[in-house]
Amino acid sequence: MEIDLLAVDGYRGTQPHDQFSWLREHAPAYWHPEPNGPGFWAITRHDDVRAVGRDHETFSSHPSTMISDGSGEPSPFDDHTMMLVADPPLHTRMRRLVSREFTPRAANALQPRIQQLAAVIVDRIADRGECDLVTDIAGEMPSLVIAEMLGISHDESRRLYHCTETIHASAEVVSSEERRNAVTTMFMSSQAAYADKLAHPADDLGSLIAHGAVDGEAVDAIDFFLWFMLLVDAGGDTTRNLVGGGLHALFEHPDQRGLLRSDIDGLLDSAIEEMLRWVSPVVYMRRTATTDTELAGHVIEAGDKVVMYYGAANRDPAVFDAPERFDITRSPNPHVAFGGGGPHYCLGANLARLEIDAILREILTRLPDLESAGPVEWMGSNFIFGPSRMPVHFTP
Ligand code: HEM
Repeated sequence: MEIDLLAVDGYRGTQPHDQFSWLREHAPAYWHPEPNGPGFWAITRHDDVRAVGRDHETFSSHPSTMISDGSGEPSPFDDHTMMLVADPPLHTRMRRLVSREFTPRAANALQPRIQQLAAVIVDRIADRGECDLVTDIAGEMPSLVIAEMLGISHDESRRLYHCTETIHASAEVVSSEERRNAVTTMFMSSQAAYADKLAHPADDLGSLIAHGAVDGEAVDAIDFFLWFMLLVDAGGDTTRNLVGGGLHALFEHPDQRGLLRSDIDGLLDSAIEEMLRWVSPVVYMRRTATTDTELAGHVIEAGDKVVMYYGAANRDPAVFDAPERFDITRSPNPHVAFGGGGPHYCLGANLARLEIDAILREILTRLPDLESAGPVEWMGSNFIFGPSRMPVHFTP
């Protein structure tokens, strides 16, 4: 079997599940070549993905959770750390700064507003009879929610959301200049928000961070930017892609769609978990071995890159019965779409589930005859998976 988990074309329409299946069976730790880099271990079994994600001492998130380390050129951010690439104990202290805004309780308090926003989003297109499901509906949800949490305008958040897409796209699709411009736009926007939150503190996450401190050191403008970028980035196209990819799965499995429609209240929770397993919007996260160790029968050397393929783990037949079947009643469903459960387990998992529930409920009840109206386009990325355009029509 020819293995290339980096080719962007492998992530159009589906993830490279035939390769994942071969790797899980024959080479669960596979040394994958990397153009312009030393190569990396591709980890595809559920148990191993969980083990790597949970063992932060052996598998560090520093210097990067992306496969490529970037240009290697010094950057003004080098002496600052984004939480995503910090290890405990620093990571623990950083996460404490914001975690109270993301507990199940805090997320539940936002639920009525999230449902209201979902209704506004569908109101806007309901009379049109057609739209792009990805941009007009699915992408709006996370964008508006994070805007209100951070305390920035809806329009600003939409602008940033487009930057996120550029940042997550692969080098084949987006030039380094485009990526740099997207980061610059985010930086300018974060500086304006930082100044605003310092001058006019409000009861929002942006103010909490701007006035916060880690280890007694006040958050500065660059720390604020890194938080801002992480929060806007992490919840945007992931949630959007789950909604788009989840609806695409329902279109392709009309029996499951019919079943869900017959009992939305009873089945939506398990359907969302199955969509998370099926779509796996985050393709991978990388760690770096801090010491020589063994994994799936291979010696991993200190400094090796170790990449957890969540979509592969989510179809592991050792854990899931008939993993290639999309089954909205699947239970139990121990998928790892939000990570394998270690310290970096998705901070926004509670929030994401509420957003997905709200927007799917709205779509399924108010646009019941929604149908595909043209070819679906997929993101050009080997890191974030999902549709980027899905024309649909429905009775206005
Ligand atoms: C379907 C939607 C989402 C998926 C599939 C997803 C998936 C993930 C994954 C796989 C990780 C890394 C886990 C690890 O390394 O162990 C992560 C981390 C993170 N996610 Fe999400 N996410 C989603 C939505 C959100 C939302 C709505 C937010 C809210 C802003 C969010 C904020 C974060 C943050 C801040 C981190 C970093 C946590 C840390 O480093 O401690 N995510 N997410």
